Amino acid sequence: MTLSTNARDIVTGAAPSVGAPMDRVDGRLKVTGSARYAAEFPMSNIAHAVIVTSTVPVGRVSAIDTRAAEAVTGVIRVITHLNAPKLPMKKVGMFGTNALSLMQDERVRYNGQPVALVIADTLERATDAASLVKVRYSGTRTPTLDMHANKSTGYAPPPGFGGQPDSKRGNVQAGLAQAEVKVDAQYKTPIENHNPMEPHATIAAWEGGRLTVWDASQYVVGARDSLAGVFGLTPESVRVVSHFVGGGFGCKGLMWSQVPLAAMAAREVSRPVKLVLTRRQMYGPVGARPQTEQHVVLGAKRDGTLTAVRHDSVSHTSRFEDYTESCANVTRILYATPNQVTTHRVVKLDLGAPTFQRAPGEAPGTFALESAMDELALKLGMDPLELRLKNYAERDPESGRPWSSKSLRECYRVGAEKFGWARRSRTVGGMREGDVLVGHGMASATYPTYRMPASASVRLTADGAGAVRALVQTAAHDLGTGAYTVMTQVAADALGLAPEQVRFELGDSRMPPSPVAGGSMTTASTGSAVHAACMAGRNKLIALAIADTASPIRGALAAAVSAAEGRLFLTGEPTKGESYAALLRRQPNGMMDVRVDSTPGAELAAYAMHAFGAVFAEVRVDRELGEIRIPRIVAAYGAGKILNAKTARSQLEGGIVWGVGMALHEETLVDRRTGRYMNADLGEYHVPVHADIGMLDVTLLDEVDPHVNPIGVKGVGEIGITGVAAAIANAVYSATGVRVRELPITLDKVMGEMRV
Ligand code: MOS
Repeated sequence: MTLSTNARDIVTGAAPSVGAPMDRVDGRLKVTGSARYAAEFPMSNIAHAVIVTSTVPVGRVSAIDTRAAEAVTGVIRVITHLNAPKLPMKKVGMFGTNALSLMQDERVRYNGQPVALVIADTLERATDAASLVKVRYSGTRTPTLDMHANKSTGYAPPPGFGGQPDSKRGNVQAGLAQAEVKVDAQYKTPIENHNPMEPHATIAAWEGGRLTVWDASQYVVGARDSLAGVFGLTPESVRVVSHFVGGGFGCKGLMWSQVPLAAMAAREVSRPVKLVLTRRQMYGPVGARPQTEQHVVLGAKRDGTLTAVRHDSVSHTSRFEDYTESCANVTRILYATPNQVTTHRVVKLDLGAPTFQRAPGEAPGTFALESAMDELALKLGMDPLELRLKNYAERDPESGRPWSSKSLRECYRVGAEKFGWARRSRTVGGMREGDVLVGHGMASATYPTYRMPASASVRLTADGAGAVRALVQTAAHDLGTGAYTVMTQVAADALGLAPEQVRFELGDSRMPPSPVAGGSMTTASTGSAVHAACMAGRNKLIALAIADTASPIRGALAAAVSAAEGRLFLTGEPTKGESYAALLRRQPNGMMDVRVDSTPGAELAAYAMHAFGAVFAEVRVDRELGEIRIPRIVAAYGAGKILNAKTARSQLEGGIVWGVGMALHEETLVDRRTGRYMNADLGEYHVPVHADIGMLDVTLLDEVDPHVNPIGVKGVGEIGITGVAAAIANAVYSATGVRVRELPITLDKVMGEMRV
């Protein structure tokens, strides 16, 4: 693996921490079980709440009998729409309350909707009592659950997180008329659930009119604002704490119903309440990735030059919001075709609200586009990699802007070389070992680089023994990604301290704000803020010293002072200086504080910013049984500066593993009669296990991006899943001659269809 060296001059010490494959600073806490997750905060007098969910997809609760539940020993309260407090339900901050089901009326809008909440002194009693709540429904009707059959009801959603639903450049009709070869195909992807190891979990406690919530959250500031809106409070009177999160992947980005339900219950029973969703409830009152149907049309000249591209994506949403899986956004930027149309339509179904899941849009979108590119290459008799190079976008074809940096060509080259792409057989079914058909496939990977405003604070202290410590805080999140570790590295280098001297804290809405841990933007956003705050701290130390008659560098020019290894000294004259400790001890209370707000600037309008990569997959397919195995995947990424080669690689490997799941295993099944999820557990919803993953060979290119943000990073949280399903589908075709356009690629779709 290529280690990224420093793109920017943030390192001053002899041993830079940034870039090194440093072990996780929270690793010991994790492996010893002492990292405290949301449901684990010790709380005296805590009560336990269990949600009762609807068993019909649509209608009204006409009667609800809670007597048996209330008779269970230890039950404190049963809340239903009949006795639930009426809540203000205002929009505060970014997110509205449409997707919440807080028992404000008798309507049922999806199967699995919370219709009652049982609160008891133990989880067991609450669970038992919840099973005794009897609900009757009226006004039920046949639910609308088939997105494909109801495509005609699709509508263009209002612009949302994915931007405008439609895009157009050039003239697709004219481009298709020039085409000598065409691909016109439909691709489908199913509902996919997140399945983090840690389910959604909340503890809520009130003190007077103030609410504190310990929650598994990807966005503590967002959850704070949403709670303030729901309960009609000021954001200042709500605190959300989320120190450790056992996986999020998007499902913990928005606040779902269980958080305000826990808060409602805690207020009603006047004691802290814990509410943890069951694994089954992870499919229901919280969102999953919606199903998609994507129509891709490619037109090309015989030499492979794309003359036109059309990508029309349909995904499902609920009756009460407009969640859009932005599948075609990737098509807008990936290839340099002059003529292109992309559209997004959403179809309302009687299901709960879908939501963001790792690379929302790009994950299913690259499956469709990169499968279609493979189909085109085959029709042209062209190497799929050559076809991609032929249409390489030297600038962002949509905006015309230059890339802040782009190493995709190098990703293709390195990936192909490590994989041995040139040595593969180009004949379908041309590689076999007895009854095993071997196939090779590749795809491009990409994900946008986002950055949002973030703030961070630094406190430097010196104790009597001369030990200097930095406390760095921001309301960011570590979902298992390594944020604690990389922020510690950024802070240490900027401050001229060792990582051991830095304590980095996150996950508390009282800290300086950070954005949602989504869109792969924590490192770019929060990292830029931490860097800026620590640089400000270092500059403040220098300013204090040169203005201080007691300092050996009094009167020096700031530009002539270096800060490294806990000392300030004249550059080139290291003996002339003093330790931070000496300087800090002369400050009030022996400490110094800085807080900085960091926002993106003009670079956003000047450059197009994306990470890119290339994925190569080998599959082995049993010719009789259709069983698919993946012995190896080779991938290379250009994602800006890599702050920590170990945690970054883990992120990318995790994304690839999920890509394998998406390709071969994952599919949430809805009962067409009842709208109920039929495989809502980890026994029936299949995810890859160790035996499903062969060798993963991930290369992080040494990409220098001077424009993207102050620390030169692009983010690696989501790009890893992109392109993987297409690379595998393309490899399955190369092995068997079966083109599977509907995920997951289960053996029934391959067996009996093989042309070899
Ligand atoms: Mo990610 S799906 O934006 O948490």
